[in-house]
Amino acid sequence: MGDKLKVAVLYDVWGEEETPESEAAAESGRKRKEKEDREEIFDALTKLGHEPSYYVLDGRPQSLYGLGKCGAGLIFNLTESYAGDDTKEMNVAAYMDLLGVPYTGAGPHAHFLAQDKATAKKMFAFHGIRTPYFATSYRGRTEHAHNVNFPLIVKPQSEDGSIGIDAEAVVNSVKELMERVEYLQNEFDSPALIEEYIEGREIYAAILGSYEHTEVLPLVELDLSKLPEGTPRIASRDVKFEKGSSAYKLTKSQIAEDLDEQTVQKLSETALAAYQAVKLRDYGRIDMRLTPAGDVYVIEANPNPWLPGFRANMSSPWPPKNPGALTRSSSKRLLKWQWSAIGRTTKRLETRIAPIFQVYFLSHSFAGWQSFRSDFCLPASLGTELCLPV
Ligand SMILES: Nc1ncnc2c1ncn2[C@@H]1O[C@H](COP(=O)(O)OP(=O)(O)O)[C@@H](O)[C@H]1O
Ligand SMILES: [Mg+2]
Repeated sequence: MGDKLKVAVLYDVWGEEETPESEAAAESGRKRKEKEDREEIFDALTKLGHEPSYYVLDGRPQSLYGLGKCGAGLIFNLTESYAGDDTKEMNVAAYMDLLGVPYTGAGPHAHFLAQDKATAKKMFAFHGIRTPYFATSYRGRTEHAHNVNFPLIVKPQSEDGSIGIDAEAVVNSVKELMERVEYLQNEFDSPALIEEYIEGREIYAAILGSYEHTEVLPLVELDLSKLPEGTPRIASRDVKFEKGSSAYKLTKSQIAEDLDEQTVQKLSETALAAYQAVKLRDYGRIDMRLTPAGDVYVIEANPNPWLPGFRANMSSPWPPKNPGALTRSSSKRLLKWQWSAIGRTTKRLETRIAPIFQVYFLSHSFAGWQSFRSDFCLPASLGTELCLPV
């Protein structure tokens, strides 16, 4: 496997995550999984004979200074915020650029473009990618307004994890709209992104790679059809994270197997175009809606999708009944992923780092992961085909 490589597994903590009590009290389950995420990456690196170490950005300047001196040859970037502020993802990436240490995932420009959903939508529109008509509103200021039609969905302009997105986010009248805009301002001090609500199937495309070397993984559908009558069919916070809730229990992610070839192609091409429009690299996920008429709308691009989503339970049988897209040849293509973090470094690093990603993904199949709930998908069948170069 060659020389050991020093890899810093970089993550961020909020103040309240630092004590065991607060860990126990963390209700979202998401933070807990982030921890497992870094542990598995650490283990994969160790298995490959590398020298991983954890590095945490805890919001104090000292943790920034320390990163500059950590001596890593590569940073595996799992940060999603700095000092609890998730708009600072881009600053962390920019800082690593200044340090001159290669890191995995999106650069600062991509974080900037994708994080502000209104900005991302403008990029999509420029590239001819269909995205819902929208308006923005913040404390009386309208930065942009299409002539939008009800029903509308009102969401924070720059959040993720469905923060501020619940059943009341879908509005059908001016009164409901104004109340919801005010709610977002008061509750999150956030500009409101007011979008036309697109009825349709919720499809996710995970994409790996960069520039000309990209791979769209099998499309995933979050099936929202079992939500009770009268409830908007949206991936609300409950659907994503509240395990005890009926919304969580009634919604399942699975490979979208019943789509015809043409639709798969349309969705995949749209996702790829969106990925490139906001300059994502290494990995990302595009959220889309597929209307009954077959139109594809991009809802948002995620530069830093939640990797542990791989692990969550999936209802449908695995491998899929029709694993056409997941054949041996596609696994061979997977072996050829050119990870940009690698490409951005040296050829020598390339041969040493590529397997890290494979081991990370494969560790899930060996652990018996059946699939995932909302984020990426990697076929479990690949686990038996790939040879681990450890
Ligand atoms: N314009 C829209 N039409 C229909 N559903 C939407 C629309 N925008 C958001 N949603 C629903 O809300 C969910 C969360 O919205 P999204 O913009 O992806 O926020 P987040 O960044 O928090 O994931 C989507 O996955 C989808 O189910
Ligand atoms: Mg989303």
